[in-house]
Amino acid sequence: MAEILRTISELRARVRKWRAQGESVALVPTMGALHDGHLSLLRLGKAKADRVVISIFVNPTQFNQSSDLENYPRREAQDADLASSAGADIIFMPGVEEIYPPGHKTKVQVSELTDVLCGATRPGHFDGVALVVSKLLLQCLPDIAIFGEKDYQQLLIIKTLVKDLDIPVEIFGAPLIRDENDLALSSRNLRLTEGGKKAAYALPSQLKQACAAIEAGVDIQAVLEKTRQALKEAGFDNIDYLEVRDENELKLLEHFDRPARIFVAAYLEGVRLIDNMPLTPKK
Ligand code: PAJ
Repeated sequence: MAEILRTISELRARVRKWRAQGESVALVPTMGALHDGHLSLLRLGKAKADRVVISIFVNPTQFNQSSDLENYPRREAQDADLASSAGADIIFMPGVEEIYPPGHKTKVQVSELTDVLCGATRPGHFDGVALVVSKLLLQCLPDIAIFGEKDYQQLLIIKTLVKDLDIPVEIFGAPLIRDENDLALSSRNLRLTEGGKKAAYALPSQLKQACAAIEAGVDIQAVLEKTRQALKEAGFDNIDYLEVRDENELKLLEHFDRPARIFVAAYLEGVRLIDNMPLTPKK
């Protein structure tokens, strides 16, 4: 069973001991309610490093709606079992005051990449992510840290902040894990009804069709319009964005002439679902 630590000083002491023994360390930051997507990151960590630390912290500074923060699923005991079975050595589960003691004043802000997609519709969200990830990296000082391509924009932002702040850690992206109907695994899926979950399958299937059409040369705007309609018909009531952007700078693409991704955020039964898929130009 993995050991649960709740303070930064205990975490530092444990990692220092491993280092003294010549062992390498991977960190997998999460907000808990663990599923196979998270566990795949832990397994990758185990394959790449001697020791794996998972952090489980529902980070208040990245929520821009208090109802979203309150409704975020919390399942400590179950998470501890799952993380242990996937190879975590330590579960770092700090309280809010450990991470944000009264009087904290510092912000971490990555420009440009945070202006688009989820950054445009969730003001302040990525500032909260950048702050907590910087803190977790500096608290743990791992050799590597692993983030999922499920949150592709987040992954690019974290790679950028690590480079810009000279934080000595290597960031790895891990593939997006889907269920048997291709729905991207997400802690938020727990909030969908059975019917809602079935309707949600339209999201990956429409994205796949859109990718195939764009790769076959159909005009991007025409494809996106058709996809938007299909998602509305499937029951998505609000689409925050549905866009094709290049995969390095997240610039909007008018013509499909370089490696890109299709990105979507849409609401079903009041639950915000996100997904993305790669588009590969034909040679
Ligand atoms: P959370 O949503 O819990 O996700 C933790 C990590 O798991 C992220 O790197 C995310 O991309 C990855 N992940 C989630 N679902 C996945 C899936 N289906 N396939 C592959 N990877 C998946 O992302 C966060 O937490 C927070 O913003 C955090 C980085 C922990 C900062 O608070």
